[in-house]
Amino acid sequence: MLNGKNILVGVTGGIAAYKTADLVSKLKKLDANIQVIMTEAATEFVSPLTFQTLSQNFVYVDMFEEPKTWEVEHISLAEKADLILVAPATANTIGKIANGIADDMLSTVIMATEAKVIFAPAMNSHMYSNPIVEENMNKLSNLGYEFIEPGSGLLACGTYGAGRMAEPLNIIEYVKGYFGPKDLENQKLVITAGPTIEPLDPVRYMTNFSSGKMGYALAEEAKKRGGDVVLITGPTNLKPPTDIKVVNINTTREMLNAVEKEFNDCQILIKAAAPLDYRPNVVSNSKIKKKNDILEMKFIKNPDISRHFGKIKKSQIMVGFAAETDNIIESANEKIKRKNFDFIVANDVSKEGAGFKTDTNIVTIIDKNGNIENYPLMQKKKLANIILDKIVKLKTKS
Ligand SMILES: Cc1cc2nc3c(=O)[nH]c(=O)nc-3n(C[C@H](O)[C@H](O)[C@H](O)COP(=O)(O)O)c2cc1C
Repeated sequence: MLNGKNILVGVTGGIAAYKTADLVSKLKKLDANIQVIMTEAATEFVSPLTFQTLSQNFVYVDMFEEPKTWEVEHISLAEKADLILVAPATANTIGKIANGIADDMLSTVIMATEAKVIFAPAMNSHMYSNPIVEENMNKLSNLGYEFIEPGSGLLACGTYGAGRMAEPLNIIEYVKGYFGPKDLENQKLVITAGPTIEPLDPVRYMTNFSSGKMGYALAEEAKKRGGDVVLITGPTNLKPPTDIKVVNINTTREMLNAVEKEFNDCQILIKAAAPLDYRPNVVSNSKIKKKNDILEMKFIKNPDISRHFGKIKKSQIMVGFAAETDNIIESANEKIKRKNFDFIVANDVSKEGAGFKTDTNIVTIIDKNGNIENYPLMQKKKLANIILDKIVKLKTKS
């Protein structure tokens, strides 16, 4: 997939630079052409010779070094790159790019390129949560630069927290996604995610454990594959994806209205949200007081969003999710019929590694013709692409 792709790897001055040696080695094994540019600071951590040997290419550090060809090197590097990957990306380099500073080879090439630039930040967790760094990253995200989120854990500086550079294999997955098929071009996808909430009184609400991770992963992967994505989401703790239209809602009825506004001209509706089936019959105007040992409340059924759109859909492909604790296949089959889904992604939320809060899932996909496919434990991002592959297949058949 990366055969012949020109990937320019920028290495900046963080301890994670040693992992980039492995990353470059792995990218080479996938037959990518790798050109490395290091900052001066990066050379304090890893020798240019390491990257030169692994990339089988000259490593640039100094912009004013004797040119290797008659070309203006920073311009030709900028033009030749299909992708620029900065790993690790220091707070300093991110800050420089966000503010238009081009004072070394790497920042100058980034300033001069029209290629996609992807940063894999790595830094101390306090640096990562510094509002200045956050603002720089937000600014760059809004301008179309992409970030591969760092992981959390024990950092090289001895502190715990977010800031550890994503692992080389995850970075490679991301890069593959970038060069992957653009098979959702000209397709509008409406994707729902997260829980809904229903107020009980002015200070309380009911909800469920949905994290929104599956819906967000679907939205991000669909976007990478060229889709025009609208993400309709209940409240989650997730960072809103950049470059995607995000509609925030609270209640199930608000979710229904939001989908209604986007449905007519969409080709694909993926219902990855977990909207509440019921809401309190009466929402108290004042805070419910603690009085009796038992508090009785009545609940009224919320509209069934999937059923509603299943009834009115024309040529749209509709995919549903079923979070179950028992009788998975039977209830999924029943849902497919009742709600007119093309297929359902069912999971047993009682299984370790499946369901709401995790980054992984174990699912069974059941389609309207009764075909059943079981999938092992996998990252939600990978599952998102399996689901999108199935949708693309259905589209090419129709
Ligand atoms: C041992 C050591 C580790 C460092 N690790 C990081 C790091 O992981 N992330 C970061 O943003 N800066 C880190 N720094 C600070 C950067 O090296 C410094 O800000 C430098 O100016 C970055 O330059 P560059 O962006 O041109 O590579 C580290 C410094 C030292 C001495």
